[in-house]
Amino acid sequence: MAILPIIETPDPLLRRKSSSVEEITPELRTLIDDMFETMYAAPGIGLAAIQVGVPKRILVIDLQEPEEEGGEPVRRPMVFVNPEIVTASDTVQPYTEGCLSVPEQYAEVERPDRVRARWLDRDGKPHDEELEGLLGICLQHEMDHLEGILFIDHLSRLKRDMILRKLAKARREKLAA
Ligand code: NI
Repeated sequence: MAILPIIETPDPLLRRKSSSVEEITPELRTLIDDMFETMYAAPGIGLAAIQVGVPKRILVIDLQEPEEEGGEPVRRPMVFVNPEIVTASDTVQPYTEGCLSVPEQYAEVERPDRVRARWLDRDGKPHDEELEGLLGICLQHEMDHLEGILFIDHLSRLKRDMILRKLAKARREKLAA
């Protein structure tokens, strides 16, 4: 397994639309394993293949939530290949989102609080499930990446520009350091 470099905005690759997976080959399984390792190392709770430069409809998610409050985080890796939202609730909930490709910037985004989704897992097995809470939010955030959309695109222009300015400043400071 390997930790892959994560690309960051404004890299134009992040704006590219990812294409469907025709077949889950051994190479793609290796990519999935590497995506998990990259996500855990970052650390993050979700990663789309395009964030490591591969324009394929593959996501990995692991909320790493503790079994009980204050307990140790428990790993529950989930793989989503060719995910689709079948239905979404009319009700929305706000959540403060971040993204490994928009490092250290956070903002509140509203998304449907419940979605029914279909996808294939690492073995190509089809799933059709209702997802809610953080898992549903995370899936929607990661699925946006497949269309070249970032969470900052859901913000007002003012808020988005503020985040992009902060990112550019952080990058300049890193270069100067
Ligand atoms: Ni993201």
